[in-house]
Amino acid sequence: MTMESAVTDQERSSREPVLSLRGISKGFGAVQALTDIHLEVYPGEVVALVGDNGAGKSTLVKILAGVHPQDAGTITFDGQDVSIPSPAASRQLGIATVFQDLALCDNLDVVSNLFLGREITHGTLDEEEMEKRSWSLLRQLSARIPSVRIAVASLSGGQRQTVAIARSLIGEPRVVILDEPTAALGVAQTAEVLNLIERLRERGLGVILISHNMADVQAVADRVAVLRLGRNNGDFRVPDVSYEEIISAITGATDNVVSQRAERIEERVELIEHGDHAAGTESTEGKQDR
Ligand SMILES: Nc1ncnc2c1ncn2[C@@H]1O[C@H](COP(=O)(O)OP(=O)(O)OP(=O)(O)O)[C@@H](O)[C@H]1O
Ligand SMILES: [Mg+2]
Repeated sequence: MTMESAVTDQERSSREPVLSLRGISKGFGAVQALTDIHLEVYPGEVVALVGDNGAGKSTLVKILAGVHPQDAGTITFDGQDVSIPSPAASRQLGIATVFQDLALCDNLDVVSNLFLGREITHGTLDEEEMEKRSWSLLRQLSARIPSVRIAVASLSGGQRQTVAIARSLIGEPRVVILDEPTAALGVAQTAEVLNLIERLRERGLGVILISHNMADVQAVADRVAVLRLGRNNGDFRVPDVSYEEIISAITGATDNVVSQRAERIEERVELIEHGDHAAGTESTEGKQDR
């Protein structure tokens, strides 16, 4: 395998997406949070889900995490139509979600956090086995954690994120969803988390990365799916798209500000040209300029 693991069109057509959403809609009373959303995630692919505040990213994640049911649309996992009525159902299916607040227990150590609610017991807790597995998991992720026996409270932001991601892997998921994993991190810690995301991809997992940081998106994602006002507004392969194009899709500038500006400029040019031909009144300023 080469270092470039971006999924090519050929690979995509010969493989099945692990997760596929079709026509997903969700309303909260009068608010239509999502309308007719389509999204596909392939094994070994990092898909960045981007969009402005209120675009519907978290709502989409919550549907996949079993927090909210969708009003309409189909979710296919591994080729099967599925419903995700609860967080437990989502995990069982093989979807692991790391929410932005991480939901770690600060006063517990790394091992206890990793195995919280899934403790290995043989009558009593098998601390030794859990510690061994913790190290093995962290090693697989090339994670830098000084000790698995220190309280999570004393870890850095990046290390905490690492623990939260490692915990999500204990159920052996096929798809991992990360909500703003680098939002609160410094430069070095961000780099570590991006490395970690690459490890997930190498393991063949499908990764959905929610981020407002386009540098992170362009550094690690294979594809970027844009939501705007609860609708799909672009799906790009990262190598083919510029920063400006992503921003335009997020803000709707393509059908708004930018095109309006362009139209205004065109109108002015026409006005000036028209004035020239008429040798008329309005364009005196323009003529002086030349
Ligand atoms: N539980 C809820 N009840 C009512 N409205 C909601 C609920 N959850 C989300 N919404 C609305 O749905 C829309 C989409 O919100 P969502 O949280 O999915 O956006 P987002 O893309 O995650 O934004 P952000 O980047 O700010 O996190 C917003 O208008 C929001 O107010
Ligand atoms: Mg959100």
